[in-house]
Amino acid sequence: MASIIGGITTSHVPAIGRAIARNLQQEPYWKPFFDGFVPVRRWLGEVRPDVVVLIYNDHGLNFFLDQMPTFAVGAAPAYRNADEGWGIPTMPPFRGDPALSWQLIESLAGEDFDLTTCQEMQVDHAFTLPMALLWPDQDWPVRVVPVCINTVQAPLPSATRCWKLGQAIGRAVASWRGAEKVLVLGSGGLSHQLDGERAGYINRDFDLKFMASLLDDPTWACRFDTRQLVEQAGTQGVELLMWLAARAALGRQVRQLHANYHIPISNTASGLMLLEPA
Ligand code: DHB
Ligand code: FE
Repeated sequence: MASIIGGITTSHVPAIGRAIARNLQQEPYWKPFFDGFVPVRRWLGEVRPDVVVLIYNDHGLNFFLDQMPTFAVGAAPAYRNADEGWGIPTMPPFRGDPALSWQLIESLAGEDFDLTTCQEMQVDHAFTLPMALLWPDQDWPVRVVPVCINTVQAPLPSATRCWKLGQAIGRAVASWRGAEKVLVLGSGGLSHQLDGERAGYINRDFDLKFMASLLDDPTWACRFDTRQLVEQAGTQGVELLMWLAARAALGRQVRQLHANYHIPISNTASGLMLLEPA
């Protein structure tokens, strides 16, 4: 039986890619952010996951406004990073795990989730940068199963629906015949707004409450509808839905092994949590 050995939730920002490319990790602006990942990498070196279920939101690279799935699961043998126009180096391709992908797809479809299945998929900064933060040598020691949640075009799935998706991912892994050690990685949030009158908006109180809730009241965020989440966390802050789904996959009780919160990187309140099922 495959098992989920832990969960990592993190913010993503394209500027991280530029900071990595220019080796700015020790600069005062970036250090508090990059330092947060040191204990996480130590833990990864101990537990050595085989596969990452990477829950993230595509930003218009693989899916655009003409075709926007609510939930999509990748089932490709490999995933390539594509240039998003930032002029930063692309990364070596990521190995997929089609067998576990199809297990997720069969299991989630069997639980009445209507998915888009992707046998080809390009991946953007929300996928690649957390991977580069966890494995800086970019010699990826894991296979990846990508799960995309729409946060780009209304209507978005509700927090409750994302929570249920995460729970179903947990069941799909637990019922898989393989013996893989699976890491669940949620990439998005926390509060930020890139456009409109509130551009630059950050809500520290909400972020810290949300992070704490994942430990002792994990469905707390489910009380907010999409409009309320945008009010609280900003238009792009709804990316915290990735955290919610990742947390749900870990089961009822978790132990926090590490957390970091730093404001801002680029326009974003950056959060990081490392959780183990308890
Ligand atoms: C920024 C944050 C994001 O989540 C994103 O996808 C792009 C940019 C930012 O803060 O710059
Ligand atoms: Fe984003």
